[in-house]
Amino acid sequence: MFKISGYQVVTKLYESANSLVYRGVRELDNLAVILKILKEDYPTSAELTRYKQEYEITRSLNSNYLIKAYSMEKYQNTLMMFLEDCQATPLNQLLIEQHLHLEAWLDMAIKITEGLGEIHAANLIHKDINPANIVFNPYTNQLKIIDFGISSQFSRENPTLKNPEVLEGTLSYMSPEQTGRMNRSLDYRTDFYSLGVTLYELFTGQLPFKTSDALELVHCHLAKKPQPPQEVNSAIPSTIANIIMKLLEKMLKTVTKVLGALKLISKFASSNGRRWGISKLLP
Ligand SMILES: Nc1ncnc2c1ncn2[C@@H]1O[C@H](COP(=O)(O)OP(=O)(O)OP(=O)(O)O)[C@@H](O)[C@H]1O
Ligand SMILES: [Mg+2]
Repeated sequence: MFKISGYQVVTKLYESANSLVYRGVRELDNLAVILKILKEDYPTSAELTRYKQEYEITRSLNSNYLIKAYSMEKYQNTLMMFLEDCQATPLNQLLIEQHLHLEAWLDMAIKITEGLGEIHAANLIHKDINPANIVFNPYTNQLKIIDFGISSQFSRENPTLKNPEVLEGTLSYMSPEQTGRMNRSLDYRTDFYSLGVTLYELFTGQLPFKTSDALELVHCHLAKKPQPPQEVNSAIPSTIANIIMKLLEKMLKTVTKVLGALKLISKFASSNGRRWGISKLLP
């Protein structure tokens, strides 16, 4: 493990072509931290700028549902971010390792939606909502959205046509407009589509579109309707299934209704002993 003064680096959590993520402890006060490092020895100035932007965006947000950033430091020729550690596990890992009750996923769905609402309230679009970018601690029930690496201010940007291999974001969860094939500007609805894919996977255990072929996936997002979640898992209450299908609509118009429905479910769940079967929440 590498050394960094003032910190004890405990475990490596993740490594990709661009990033290294470690769990560690700040020696001064024993604070648990996540260290995220831009990996290259000689990053380009564009990479450094992007990394700084990720840090600034993370730092600007203040919500219990969003990961906090403590500081950023130079590390050799590159940069290192120190982030909040709530001893949580990413949902993509929980999906594989744990067979959680529907109620547990519902509780998470509500928290993810709340977190997303706070991102949007800050005039930001996350652009990479997927289970690897959401962490949950089952002991404390804390849930946090992480990874503001490609997030941006809401600016009516119009994605351009790109080879699907180089699209920013995670293709299985990507909205039709974010693939750059709809000639439509991006707004917060792109995150709701990715939320729909994420919830579909949390509740059914599988993706709405299972192919790993990039072009075929893009085509599915643009043109295909997924199999209704209840056909995959009949235990899913129809209210939840309807919300998921609504989020996965190609041109979602009624975001407020979907949010309203999730909130009503949340209220119902806490006041009625978390029973199911709420009907007529959706139009
Ligand atoms: N606070 C955290 N708690 C638990 N795990 C974390 C945390 N932060 C990051 N991780 C782990 O590290 C992984 C990568 O972190 P993150 O999503 O921030 O990097 P990334 O920008 O996606 O990296 P890259 O783009 O290089 O793939 C996460 O999917 C998760 O597994
Ligand atoms: Mg990520």
